[in-house]
Amino acid sequence: MENQYILAIETSCDETAAAVIKDGTTIISNVVASQIESHKRFGGVVPEIASRHHVEQVTIVIEEALAQAQLQPSELTAVAITEGPGLVGALLIGINAAKAFAWAHQLPIVGVHHIAGHIYANALVQPMEFPLLALVVSGGHTELVYMKEHGHFELIGETRDDAAGEAYDKVARVLNLPYPGGPHIDRLAHEADEAVAFPRVWLEEDSYDFSFSGLKSAVINYKHNMDQRGEEIIAAHVAKGFQDSVVEVLTTKAVRAARAYNVKQVIAAGGVAANKGLRTALEQAFKQEGIPFYVPPLKLCTDNAAMIGAAGAKMYEAGVRGNMMMNGRPGMEL
Ligand code: KG4
Ligand code: ZN
Repeated sequence: MENQYILAIETSCDETAAAVIKDGTTIISNVVASQIESHKRFGGVVPEIASRHHVEQVTIVIEEALAQAQLQPSELTAVAITEGPGLVGALLIGINAAKAFAWAHQLPIVGVHHIAGHIYANALVQPMEFPLLALVVSGGHTELVYMKEHGHFELIGETRDDAAGEAYDKVARVLNLPYPGGPHIDRLAHEADEAVAFPRVWLEEDSYDFSFSGLKSAVINYKHNMDQRGEEIIAAHVAKGFQDSVVEVLTTKAVRAARAYNVKQVIAAGGVAANKGLRTALEQAFKQEGIPFYVPPLKLCTDNAAMIGAAGAKMYEAGVRGNMMMNGRPGMEL
């Protein structure tokens, strides 16, 4: 087979990213322009600002990805683009850039689901083996996904309120930590020798769903009560208490699902999969279960275009094609 080169573009949230992936598994280039500095002072992603940055950056990152790959557009096989879910204005900028590029160079275009991308980040590290369970934990998602084969996604559990990363970011605000708060809470939790006791939310006994808003409220109430008593909270102890609760619930439900679905492989994906506490807990739990567990390197956990290229390559092989009518799909289902 001739070499397959996919140019991938990702603009669903606050990273403008482009990458070139060879044969669905090898990263040739992976460029990410982060906007974090611009959103920091607002304590979260401001959609309007995100769109403006994407407009400024998208052509630059595409050119950079191609330059690093030392490829001409004519050598590409297809263009993969995140179609949804995400911020509609942000998605549209990437989609229009992808359409223009594909049209100008007469290339096929493939629309990719952002979460499929996060899951396929693992294909860039080692072969995916089926049946597989993916724990997807990011700023917008907390999902347990069962995969029987490539391209087949069965949602077996999801959050009923806040996503895990969202809870991290909100609790970080309570603790006056900068945005995005996940890495700061992770660091503080590791420094702590004590933890504040916060609840674990299990929901119904057989449910694979999650709920983190109660935990977030418990942290807010704790701070409020301490303030009223004129006592200082110890941020590290709060961070550890919060993280212990999130990690225990995520790990326990992932293990239960992996057993019930008799999977051959478990993978973690999404920004929160960068969490050291979570990675360690999952590694230990699945070692005990005797089920291979993988999580991609940090750079491939948070938003990037390489993962979109990996998923797009598989979809391209399966015959999936988009067209010039493609639109941003903010609520796209897996
Ligand atoms: O996947 P991602 O880059 O973007 C979305 O698709 O949402 O995930 C971003 C989320 C943020 O909420 C951020 O706080 C969280 O991932 N995050 C972490 C860590 N690194 C990033 N959460 C906990 N621990 C970390 N080390
Ligand atoms: Zn993401």
